[in-house]
Amino acid sequence: MKTYLVTGGAGFIGSNYILNLLSNPQDTLRVVNIDALTYAGNLENLQSIEGDGRHSFVQADIRDQDAMQQVFDSYQPDYVVNFAAESHVDRSITNPQVFVETNVLGTLTLLNNAKRIWQTADDEDSYRTGVRFLQVSTDEVYGSLGPEGFFTETTPLDPHSPYSASKASADLLVKAFGDTYRLPVNITRCSNNYGPFQFPEKLIPLMINNAQQHRALPVYGDGLQVRDWLFVEDHCKAIELVLKRGEPGEVYNIGGHNERTNMQIVAQIIAQLAESLDDPQISEALIQHVADRKGHDRRYGIDPAKIGAALGWQPETPFEEGIVQTIRWYLEHQGWVEHVTSGAYRSYLEQMYGSR
Ligand code: NAD
Ligand code: TYD
Repeated sequence: MKTYLVTGGAGFIGSNYILNLLSNPQDTLRVVNIDALTYAGNLENLQSIEGDGRHSFVQADIRDQDAMQQVFDSYQPDYVVNFAAESHVDRSITNPQVFVETNVLGTLTLLNNAKRIWQTADDEDSYRTGVRFLQVSTDEVYGSLGPEGFFTETTPLDPHSPYSASKASADLLVKAFGDTYRLPVNITRCSNNYGPFQFPEKLIPLMINNAQQHRALPVYGDGLQVRDWLFVEDHCKAIELVLKRGEPGEVYNIGGHNERTNMQIVAQIIAQLAESLDDPQISEALIQHVADRKGHDRRYGIDPAKIGAALGWQPETPFEEGIVQTIRWYLEHQGWVEHVTSGAYRSYLEQMYGSR
């Protein structure tokens, strides 16, 4: 039986990944979910697997060496999938420090512990069979594209925001552990995700939420920046494939050739919400162009040819379907939105897990 150590499993993508892993009750595996429960981590995301004995939650910080040593020693994971991160570009512009601490130093702590417990006694650079360290990274490490072309795995790293700089730094450390110590590592670099449980500070859930409440829809600058959107479940499936079948040391880009300008995304959300709620007040009049983000990357676009050819991965959810599903999810989970954005979440935690 395989033991997965998943970090950041109470966040957006991490919780979707765990729910997906445990979706078949017949599957025998163990998932140890390490999450510090920052503002972005929410145990309610995992409510549907409450009582599933295959899942253990440990509230801990990946920067905390003592805590990580204890977790790695007691659970002896086969796989480490590192989602834990500070993930919001705007926050990284106002406070870069915590991004370096969590995204870079936290990743180093995990690498050190994986190396320590996986090393076989007789040879420093050989490891238990079947183990893998997977770093969940982002296409933002490649920087910004002009109107043509796509990011491939060999595109030079050229991050612009403190967030992407911290993710690129972590990627280089993961690569160094592969190159120097032969630790079996992979790095995945995915485009922008959307879907259930995304914290409502990111573009899509923020716009759904504001529009529904007839609040202004803040579009940065001209809104013609381009992002390449992928439904979160497709990302999770790609990660699983890389973990099981990826070549050690390799980087895999993940994306579904689904580029949209921010204005197109906002317009689509407005049109769909107005129709499903039959609410004429939800209109483009709510759009407000506000000051542009500093250092704003103009365009991201992934070339997913490598993961397609090597592992047979293809995105399954067309954007038109995924966005409808996502809007519906947010409409049906208004309590969740209120919860994660208010102090009520604290009392929920205490009620669920006691005060600690
Ligand atoms: P998120 O902000 O929703 O979740 C991050 C989780 O990490 C939260 O549960 C938080 O509590 C936890 N965390 C933060 N600091 C921690 C620490 N020091 N110790 C332990 N846990 C900590 O982020 P997300 O959107 O789910 O992103 C997950 C990963 O995927 C990140 O590494 C991000 O860089 C990467 N990624 C995200 C996207 C995207 O579009 N969201 C795209 C590509 C890659
Ligand atoms: P975001 O969801 O923060 O993801 P990322 O910056 O990692 O791509 O933003 C997606 C795009 O939407 C990005 O170009 C910034 C823009 N944006 C707005 O125009 N208004 C907003 O309120 C937010 C949060 C983002």
